[in-house]
Amino acid sequence: MPQSLLEAKNISHSFDYPLFSHINFSLEPTQSVAIVGRSGSGKSTFLHILSTFLKPREGEVVFLGKSLYALRDNEIEALRRYDIGIIFQFHYLFKGMSALENISVATMLSGEKLDERILKKLEIDHLMNHKTSELSGGEQQRVSIARVLSKKPRIIFADEPTGNLDKETAGLVMDVLLDYIKEAKAGLLLVTHDMQMAIRCDRIYALENRQLESKP
Ligand SMILES: Nc1ncnc2c1ncn2[C@@H]1O[C@H](COP(=O)(O)OP(=O)(O)OP(=O)(O)O)[C@@H](O)[C@H]1O
Ligand SMILES: [Mg+2]
Repeated sequence: MPQSLLEAKNISHSFDYPLFSHINFSLEPTQSVAIVGRSGSGKSTFLHILSTFLKPREGEVVFLGKSLYALRDNEIEALRRYDIGIIFQFHYLFKGMSALENISVATMLSGEKLDERILKKLEIDHLMNHKTSELSGGEQQRVSIARVLSKKPRIIFADEPTGNLDKETAGLVMDVLLDYIKEAKAGLLLVTHDMQMAIRCDRIYALENRQLESKP
């Protein structure tokens, strides 16, 4: 059994009221996991906790064998730069740059090379010299996904990555994410409201009753 990419132990968190308590979770190489649940149930919060952005009230997150919230700032910085890929519904591209320049920033920082096949699969290879501001919303979304993949992360955290895409394009994005994790022996944690996307993952959990409940 290879080492887990990620292990979350006994995680509890609350803001004004308790969101979830004593959650255990792990992600293995090549594994994809979807988390579904009502709006406000804490899915994004859970994702932030697992991806270095929010220290939980209770519990430990072990990422590639290291306890996340015991790390120094420069170690966290390195994890974010090389190992963690984050895809949010609202993408953050540099507006004045072309699609290719946006992707180059990521590959330069991580020292990786862009896999051209990903651009083809996402059907954005012909858009590389267009300015971000000249692309449609869905095209920008796909450029930002290519940018995340181009740094070859060990884990992809995706929060409603296909929320503003049509069904067919959303399916393409799922193809690319699932192919990537198999090839790179990475993991995918996907938060989504779209059951059609969720059922393509190896496992589905629902965040409800303050717990992660496994769905058949
Ligand atoms: N920084 C914060 N400070 C206080 N409350 C917060 C903070 N972030 C989130 N919350 C609250 O925690 C709850 C869970 O929020 P979260 O964004 O995790 O939900 P979600 O399951 O991702 O919902 P959605 O499906 O709508 O995206 C919400 O009630 C939200 O208002
Ligand atoms: Mg959310």
